[in-house]
Amino acid sequence: MTRILVTGGAGYVGSHTCKALSQAGMEPVVFDHLISGHDWAVKWGDLEVGDLLDRDRIAEVVGRVCPEGVIHFASLTYVGESVTDPAKYWHNNVTGAINLLDALTAANVPPMVFSSSCTVYGMTDADFIAETVPVAPINPYGNTKRAIEIMLQDYEVATGLRHIVLRYFNAAGCDADAEIGEVHEPETHLIPLAIAAAAGDRAALKIFGTDYPTADGTCVRDYIHVTDLADAHVRALRQLLDGGGSDVFNLGVGDGYSVREVVDTVGRVVGTPVPAEEDARRPGDPARLVADATHARDGLGWVPSHSSLDNIVATAWNWYQAQTQILSRPGDGSD
Ligand code: UFG
Repeated sequence: MTRILVTGGAGYVGSHTCKALSQAGMEPVVFDHLISGHDWAVKWGDLEVGDLLDRDRIAEVVGRVCPEGVIHFASLTYVGESVTDPAKYWHNNVTGAINLLDALTAANVPPMVFSSSCTVYGMTDADFIAETVPVAPINPYGNTKRAIEIMLQDYEVATGLRHIVLRYFNAAGCDADAEIGEVHEPETHLIPLAIAAAAGDRAALKIFGTDYPTADGTCVRDYIHVTDLADAHVRALRQLLDGGGSDVFNLGVGDGYSVREVVDTVGRVVGTPVPAEEDARRPGDPARLVADATHARDGLGWVPSHSSLDNIVATAWNWYQAQTQILSRPGDGSD
């Protein structure tokens, strides 16, 4: 079976991708320090507990596992924290990636899919963001993602490391079977927070900014179901395993929804209106981020099929109800 090393495979997008790899007949081996990831989310292959900052550990795992491909998710991802503690982000994300790339260089240089973000485009005015839009990140988190993208290009020149960069828009929704789902600590994302507010488990949702130049004054985002994202990773990896060259793809649906539209959908799906209050803008939020999904469709044959807003919210709500049982099992859900 084709063995794939998945760094950060115990996290949200990583665990959904492991399920997709397994369904595609591949064997994921997860490398994760379990600080933000969860051991209960590793269900489709072995778990190697380790930190990418530990050079010897990742080198040892790569040498022993001999992966035929790699998907690199492991990363710190909080934009706000990256602004107040940039050193933590540069050290963890960039030094961690260097250690991983060096370990791959010392082995057989398997091809890599890299989990990047639309945040690399910064404050673009483009209505639909294609890969040709100039990159200009506006926070340290985005800078680290961009730095790794550049690093991959440089390593390819020297080592032949073929790689595909996937720039996600807003990952959302959960596994249809509720075997895994989204658990962040702290949670900052709109959909899980709106669901928790509707369920009465949190205080009112704050709507960050109502004076944006959008139809209803709130920010517009391109929400992409995590199962569709996982499928894109498998397609990208297959392409590399078949000998394909390096590339960059934006992963979004190409439709935008405002915060108010998301809040209304959550209220309808949960059956209780979301208690919400208007608040100031959150620093660094662009008014609109919507993908031009043409290149991913043409280059990967990728057509999202789970990403209607209703299905995203329905699967997130299903997971929200199921996770209470999963997280209450002895020994689970400690982080
Ligand atoms: N929002 C609220 N209230 C909340 C939380 C979010 O109004 O309590 C709004 C935000 O201001 C934003 C929208 O809902 O307009 C979506 O916010 P999320 O935090 O869910 O997602 P972001 O668009 O901020 O973040 C996503 C990814 C990041 C990535 C970023 C790129 O989660 O990893 O896109 O801009 F960096």
